[in-house]
Amino acid sequence: MIVSFVSGKGGIGKSMIAANVAYGLAKNLPDKDVILISADVSARTSELLISSFEKKYGWIEYLKSNLLPEEILAPSNLLDNLYIVYSSKNSLTLHGEFPDHMIPHVARKILMFKNFFKDKIIIIDAPAGKTKDHALYCLYFEPVLVTTPMDADLEGTKLFKKAIENRARMIGIKSNVWKGVIINKVVKPREEILKVVQALNITNVIGWVPADRCLEKISGIHYDRCQRLREYFDRIIENLFNVKLKKKKSFSLFDMIRKFYNFKSKKI
Ligand SMILES: Nc1ncnc2c1ncn2[C@@H]1O[C@H](COP(=O)(O)OP(=O)(O)OP(=O)(O)O)[C@@H](O)[C@H]1O
Ligand SMILES: [Mg+2]
Repeated sequence: MIVSFVSGKGGIGKSMIAANVAYGLAKNLPDKDVILISADVSARTSELLISSFEKKYGWIEYLKSNLLPEEILAPSNLLDNLYIVYSSKNSLTLHGEFPDHMIPHVARKILMFKNFFKDKIIIIDAPAGKTKDHALYCLYFEPVLVTTPMDADLEGTKLFKKAIENRARMIGIKSNVWKGVIINKVVKPREEILKVVQALNITNVIGWVPADRCLEKISGIHYDRCQRLREYFDRIIENLFNVKLKKKKSFSLFDMIRKFYNFKSKKI
């Protein structure tokens, strides 16, 4: 399964969500391999979130050359079943838009990666924008729109959604390409979720994440550090990958203690 987190504008929170969801998923499903692809060369934030021991060639080199999928896969140093594909080995790479003649090659390489790792869960932190190569991340995978409820961002998401749907129609893919929407930086949940659903005409809200000071600085994975935020990531994971996550340990320990005391009090 391949899910891509996409948005029209930058700074929406794609990388933060992609990294925490990839980590949370790998942690909860130790028997499943999870690959996080950082396809976003300009921001490279997933690389700040999950560092690896060994810096390999990245996604952009893979798309541009004859490298094989396994040559760009690097283990994360966080979990045994979590892997990362860097955006680029060279920190100065700026690829901009792929020229038209390269699009079929890029498409082939993306599909090759998808087929090569078809038993693994792949999460793509896609670049922001609506150019032809960006559209591939929507049309060939299960795209999840990431937006904030702020007017300017929402307007950008609307334009992006429309552009992708037009491109889908042009190449004969059904126009409803979206797996759903994730809303980030939410302040007033009720009001803002409704606002997004109405503006985008997407009813499948996969989840939302509150605006939280803890998330303002990208400084590693928040999943383990912040219990109140983990619940939001868990809900996204459950809805997106159709899995039921285990009860939290602390919760079951609490249950055990309660049962023990009930038992004792009955005896007395
Ligand atoms: N829910 C949140 N609350 C507060 N700050 C957040 C939240 N989500 C993300 N941020 C902050 O917003 C900024 C942008 O986040 P992030 O880099 O994940 O966005 P992005 O969509 O990947 O951007 P780009 O397209 O430029 O790569 C970061 O500084 C991040 O720490
Ligand atoms: Mg990013």
